Amino acid sequence: MTGVQTCALPIWQNFHVIYLDLSFDELKARLLRSKRRPLLKVEEPEKRLTELYNQRRNFYREAAHQIFVPDGNLSAARNSAALLDLLSNLGFDFEPARLSVDLVERSYQILIGDDILAQAGRLVDQVDGLSRRAVIISNGTVGPLYRQTFAAGLKKADFIVDYIEVGTGEKYKSLDEANNLYDALLAKRADRDTVIFALGGGVVGDLVGFVASTYMRGLPLVQVPTTLLAQVDSSVGGKTAVNTARAKNSVGTFYQPRVVISDLETLKTLPPRELQAGLAEVVKYGFLAGSPFIDLIENSLEGILKGDFTKLKELIYRCCAYKAEVVEEDEADRGRRAVLNYGHTIGHAIEAASGYRRYNHGEAVSIGMVGAALIAKQLGFIDDELTARHSRLLKSVGLPVKYSDLEPEVLLEHLKLDKKRQHGKHRLILLRDLGEPVIVKVNDELLRATLMELKEA
Ligand SMILES: NC(=O)c1ccc[n+]([C@@H]2O[C@H](COP(=O)([O-])OP(=O)(O)OC[C@H]3O[C@@H](n4cnc5c(N)ncnc54)[C@H](O)[C@@H]3O)[C@@H](O)[C@H]2O)c1
Repeated sequence: MTGVQTCALPIWQNFHVIYLDLSFDELKARLLRSKRRPLLKVEEPEKRLTELYNQRRNFYREAAHQIFVPDGNLSAARNSAALLDLLSNLGFDFEPARLSVDLVERSYQILIGDDILAQAGRLVDQVDGLSRRAVIISNGTVGPLYRQTFAAGLKKADFIVDYIEVGTGEKYKSLDEANNLYDALLAKRADRDTVIFALGGGVVGDLVGFVASTYMRGLPLVQVPTTLLAQVDSSVGGKTAVNTARAKNSVGTFYQPRVVISDLETLKTLPPRELQAGLAEVVKYGFLAGSPFIDLIENSLEGILKGDFTKLKELIYRCCAYKAEVVEEDEADRGRRAVLNYGHTIGHAIEAASGYRRYNHGEAVSIGMVGAALIAKQLGFIDDELTARHSRLLKSVGLPVKYSDLEPEVLLEHLKLDKKRQHGKHRLILLRDLGEPVIVKVNDELLRATLMELKEA
């Protein structure tokens, strides 16, 4: 548990000083590992560290308005989220809110704020080593809405800005469209220093990310997500992809952006169905993270669906903090990152079986999460109440919790093609309890029974 203590006698009047009170053992582990601590370049560094700690700790405690004790069991991202909570409770307003994704030399920040597209230049300026040559890439829906504000923001910081438009829709997440983009970039003489800005939803982000990672072996990429799904999910973590005729997302790269700029204002023009699809992913994070996040989501939904986005910033921040922590641990998707696919295995089968037309991604994942909950209940992991909480919450967003016009056997055939399937068994992400995702092998019979239960009567 993190701990917070408020001190009586602030000695600095114009600043708010917070002392991050790490335990001596933690300090020792961190500092003695480092070779760049001049004060510890002595014969007995541990002894020296003990002396310095004893000399300084009381002074630091007295000088601070607040003492914050980070929780050693949590990542830096989680501790920062707790620290930000503390600061916002104290009345500090951060615009934009910042969250780090710590991946050593590929680390970057996610900036989340209101009306921040117009400040793009100032925000991008804070990233090291970027040139002033920018190409914004967007589609025919998002470009006309936001490219001018965004370009003006960049120009304020002396960027030279070009613009390229790609086709709108999942079918343009293709190698053909990537090829068109390579041509357009060559025509504009984009070189290895040109900064590429992906302005749009997940489709634009995945396609442009793929092109940025491969054109001239990689150009600096900035993700500017404009759908809720892209802000909480696809813009973070570095997966890029295009689809081929046979399979979705079958060609792609891992390529982290240099910064992510999420402007809540852009969500105001999002069609309601797309907002709901993004909320399906938010709910997914809620079940993965457990309480109190899931309670916060439940209490915020009504307002968000009525267009009041005050709570949305915190929800986006917390979703990104969860994803950042998972990606920091498993960037290459070899282990824990799979939990982010909660509801996605059945969801993907529903999307594919319906030809990617009837259900959008969020709707299919919504049904998939209910399916995962039914299986977890059958296996005795979760109780009736948590199972019912899935349907209740997703229905309150206006998302489907059952499918229609599809045959369970057809879905099962699609599930047999799933990459995660091993030795004739499906590997699904289930909840062992609220906030406790696990990967579990499930046989065809249980899956078939669940698919039948998920079908609208
Ligand atoms: N890379 C990843 O980690 C990852 C994760 C999840 C999903 N994805 C991918 O993301 C894609 C889905 O993304 P999506 O849900 O954002 O869909 P999308 O990009 O297709 O956007 C949905 C629709 O909304 C429009 N739109 C976008 N922003 C708008 C705005 N502010 N105002 C009005 N209209 C706007 C788009 O033009 C599009 O028509 C899929 O291709 C999926 O595979 C990738």
